[in-house]
Amino acid sequence: MLTHFRQLPFVPKKVPSVSLVEQLTKKIQSILRLLRGDPRFLVMSWLARFIAVREWVADRGRYQSPAVIDATVTHPSAGACPLESSGQVAKFIQTHGYYVGFSLQDSILQDLLTFAETTPCYANRDSSLPFYIKNKDQFEQALGAPLLVAGYLDTHETCDAYQKLKTDPYLLDVASQYLNHSAVYMRGELAWGFPAPNTQAEKVKTARVFHCDINDFKTIKFFFYLTDVGEGEGPHVYIKGTHRNRRLGHQWIGQGCASIDDEALVETYGRDRVHVVTGPAGLGFAGDPYCLHKGTVPHDQSRLLLQLEFGIYPYRIWYF
Ligand SMILES: [Fe+2]
Repeated sequence: MLTHFRQLPFVPKKVPSVSLVEQLTKKIQSILRLLRGDPRFLVMSWLARFIAVREWVADRGRYQSPAVIDATVTHPSAGACPLESSGQVAKFIQTHGYYVGFSLQDSILQDLLTFAETTPCYANRDSSLPFYIKNKDQFEQALGAPLLVAGYLDTHETCDAYQKLKTDPYLLDVASQYLNHSAVYMRGELAWGFPAPNTQAEKVKTARVFHCDINDFKTIKFFFYLTDVGEGEGPHVYIKGTHRNRRLGHQWIGQGCASIDDEALVETYGRDRVHVVTGPAGLGFAGDPYCLHKGTVPHDQSRLLLQLEFGIYPYRIWYF
């Protein structure tokens, strides 16, 4: 369980313009919060926004793959990208920022779905609002508002199938080769995204605008769709290559890229680089969260998504 870690709010928000004094006050408050939480995180979060620093730290690693690597939770997918060696996948992520092509074994997928059906999830990730997914409609009626998200907080850590994923030698080797350090498990989340009307402010709050996440000098995130995800089910979207190719001004503002309009980022980096990841339940993909990306809002069916993040160094705090 990760209860000793403290989650920081997703920043910065697209907020109406505020005065210089207010901006400075917010900045100082944010620095103090990071200092109190973990001073190493504060230093890292400033340095790791620069690609040269990220690559320098990764280059200093000396990771060696084990001689034999078993894949215990995935199998070759029938899609365009069959399961490749962990080294090939890591290299692909190094070039493009992400890789799409894992496929969960049926037994693992079924176990995760059973867990999701038989364990309470929490509306808006609020521990005081538990409900079973089969009772979602009644719960929304009682709440008086449509739900956008519901997560399982840390309870997925008790699920055997999740533990197998977290310790799968193949996935760990993909992560370690990409980071060039023995991968450190940081956290994971199992969460529903629901079709519901939403405002731009809610989109920003739930990371549904293009952004990057900086939780270490380098991290890698694995995602698995546990329900079918088409264009209408809130697919994940990447802007290819933006983990290695980013304007200096956009590196300087780090996570502040979230404050730039999606369309402006697409114009800057090229519409042909936008990759919408759709696929059947069980599809997995992995990416560097520094590569510009977003989750989109489902408008047809609900989406159940599992994600796991690995990094180089552990910290006491993190951005969601
Ligand atoms: Fe993100």
